[in-house]
Amino acid sequence: MLERNILDDNLTLSAYVLRRRLEGREPTVGLVLGSGLNPLADEIADAASIPYVEVPRMKTSTAEGHVGRFVCGTLGGKCVLAMQGRLHGYEGNDAQEVAYPIWLMERLGVRTLITTNAAGALNPNYEVGDFCIMGDQINFTGRNPIAAPDPANLSDRFFSMKDAFDPELRAIAHDVAAERGIRVQEGVYLGALGPSFETPAEIRMFRLWGADTVAMSVCEEVIAARHVGMRVLGISLVSNMGCGIEGASPTGSEVLDVAKTREADFASLVTGVIAQL
Ligand code: HPA
Repeated sequence: MLERNILDDNLTLSAYVLRRRLEGREPTVGLVLGSGLNPLADEIADAASIPYVEVPRMKTSTAEGHVGRFVCGTLGGKCVLAMQGRLHGYEGNDAQEVAYPIWLMERLGVRTLITTNAAGALNPNYEVGDFCIMGDQINFTGRNPIAAPDPANLSDRFFSMKDAFDPELRAIAHDVAAERGIRVQEGVYLGALGPSFETPAEIRMFRLWGADTVAMSVCEEVIAARHVGMRVLGISLVSNMGCGIEGASPTGSEVLDVAKTREADFASLVTGVIAQL
């Protein structure tokens, strides 16, 4: 965990370098593309690509299916700053390191964050291939990016997580999905640290707690984004049923294979939402 001025100084340096690499592009929408969902960044027009390793003070992606670069350009008629691959806690990053690119986006002018991932379903009514709009989250990572000696350099220490996922953005996502004939659910997302998948007992417990989906990302990003007042939309692709449900035993390659089959609808949904912002 970094102390007050170090975090602020690091973000200032990173923002300075990244802004220069954007060559005048002024992004207002941030997009985090999760496992297997990275190809959407290739549809961004007039794009500048900046690998995370070229942004000082930022960690890079090591997970399979995560390219590890920013792609900035036009999507759905808006200037978008996409993360083609994210940072996870299970890669050995602390919560602030996971949150760092979200705060960096905010410094560059991003006010709306769309964060996406592949997730396992706990709700038996969900089907593999469905999209699930996050209605709320349970942070089961045991970590919080604001838990630091003096987080007030970015904003207040205590802040509400009510309507963390913006109701208006959720309504737009439902409308776009209905218009385009894409099956979407809305549910409670639970973020675990990973990288082991859950046990069947954990899946049963999470379901009793009211979770509909589970994965290994997103929660720290959402907390960081809300801390600095960004509006957030979260969308999961249901890539598998949770471990033990109907005998499911998820694997990493299954998650990526399912994501591949849903690329077109994912692009249509996300681009459609951005066009409505
Ligand atoms: N559990 C945790 N993370 C995941 C899953 C899952 O079932 N599917 C995709 N990411």
